[in-house]
Amino acid sequence: LLSLVGSPTRAEEGPVCPKTDTLSRASFPEGFMFGTATAAFQVEGAVNESCRGPSLWDIYIKRYPHRVKNHNADVAVDFYHRYKEDIQLLKRLNTDGFRLSISWPRIFPHGRMEKGINYDGVKFYHDLIDELLKNDITPLVTVFHWDTPADLEDEYGGFLSERIVADFVEYANFTFHEYGDKVKNWITFNEPWVFSRSGYDVGKKAPGRCSPYVKDFGPLCQDGRSGFEPYVVSHNLLLSHAESVEAFRKCEKCKGGKIGIAHSPAWFEPTDLEGGHGETTVNRVLDFIIGWHLDPTTYGDYPKSMKDAIGPRLPSFTKAQKAKLKGSTDFVGVNYYTSFLAKPDQKADPRNPTWATDSLVEFEPKTVDGSIKIGSQPSTAKMAVYAKGLRKLMKYIKDRYDSPEIIITENGYGEDLGDKDDDHSVALNDHNRKYYLQRHLLALNEAICIDKVNVTSYFLWSLMDNFEWQDGYTARFGLYYIDFKNNLTRMEKESAKWYSEFLKPKPNQQ
Ligand code: NOJ
Repeated sequence: LLSLVGSPTRAEEGPVCPKTDTLSRASFPEGFMFGTATAAFQVEGAVNESCRGPSLWDIYIKRYPHRVKNHNADVAVDFYHRYKEDIQLLKRLNTDGFRLSISWPRIFPHGRMEKGINYDGVKFYHDLIDELLKNDITPLVTVFHWDTPADLEDEYGGFLSERIVADFVEYANFTFHEYGDKVKNWITFNEPWVFSRSGYDVGKKAPGRCSPYVKDFGPLCQDGRSGFEPYVVSHNLLLSHAESVEAFRKCEKCKGGKIGIAHSPAWFEPTDLEGGHGETTVNRVLDFIIGWHLDPTTYGDYPKSMKDAIGPRLPSFTKAQKAKLKGSTDFVGVNYYTSFLAKPDQKADPRNPTWATDSLVEFEPKTVDGSIKIGSQPSTAKMAVYAKGLRKLMKYIKDRYDSPEIIITENGYGEDLGDKDDDHSVALNDHNRKYYLQRHLLALNEAICIDKVNVTSYFLWSLMDNFEWQDGYTARFGLYYIDFKNNLTRMEKESAKWYSEFLKPKPNQQ
């Protein structure tokens, strides 16, 4: 049981929290939504089903199998065929929300409507959404979770070209008109920072391109070094976002809906290495990790610190684009996993400040309030457990971005079980994950109830183990274990039992 540090006892502005002695669903404001999150490419499989076209990830995996541990997502966890049984798991967890993404090449196999619509794919998402609604689960739909149609990559380089804007808007608008009467909660883009940085700067994710300014890029990065690319990609992504939100707001069917971006900020703590200037570094890092995409959609332009550091490599918006971007989200989506220490890179050349070294600085994970020991490399599979970081981040967004509605679009714990991966007695007893979730839900509750941050929903990553990009299937994030050697059987972990108990309605609420 987790005890609460303090619930509000007097009326203040902000969310109203019921007073409870221990933390449970009942400690959160009325109507707070709890769910789990997934993404099409990571769970669906069925990559050749009916007329789905390839995405840049399908191509990347075939081209560089060693970059994804020689795994692939052809079958993934077969959600495409098993979604009905998986929705029963959502019921079992007592969740009331579910985050899914639509695969662009499953809808438009060649990226554009004129080249054909895959009606089987369109129907698949109708069936999935209908099944969720039938089970009283509210969908939160991501339009783009990194799977650019391969044809658009080949034709003009995908997000490296401004031509992506028209194609993205056509696709997004199609999904709004198709599903907008059933789906009221939308995310245009998942983790723009990761998409641009990992795909076009450090080469860790598709399409695996690199910048010359990244020291230490190692064997992964052998092509496409430009140093402009992450900024160009994000610029086109932001323009695509703004245009598609304009279309969303004009869509009659979509009335009453809301739309945002799922950002991927970590929290950063200062080190004493700057002789008392740690806060400056932290603020600069936060500008790069969240302000890069959140400043434009809130205030219409990039943060000043980025403009100063990046200079002409950062594209600029026209007046009309700024106006369209400003206020283009109804909520701020936050994928929070971990925190780092922010320290300045002493060796970076100040005349040529770079995005990934000088400005982003090098960081180092630390286990701060957890008992979990971690390695020295930041990795999704060995994360520092720092729940305080979530609370501080919530407060930072509230103060810096004018108290927006915040949705926790992802939060969860990944681990690589190594040679114990098949050992159910180890894998199902996931105490680390349970501990992580408890700490983070407590910190979130404090952010809402004490700091009065307007957080309205929490989506846990992930319902079940799945294809974890460059880690293949070696990093497990699920509440449900997938037995890859035994027909992809779903098995309940300890954390799933705990989450379902945590979310159980009290007898008088049933
Ligand atoms: C971020 C991404 O949105 C998701 O695709 C990924 O699997 C999780 N976090 C865990 O790394």
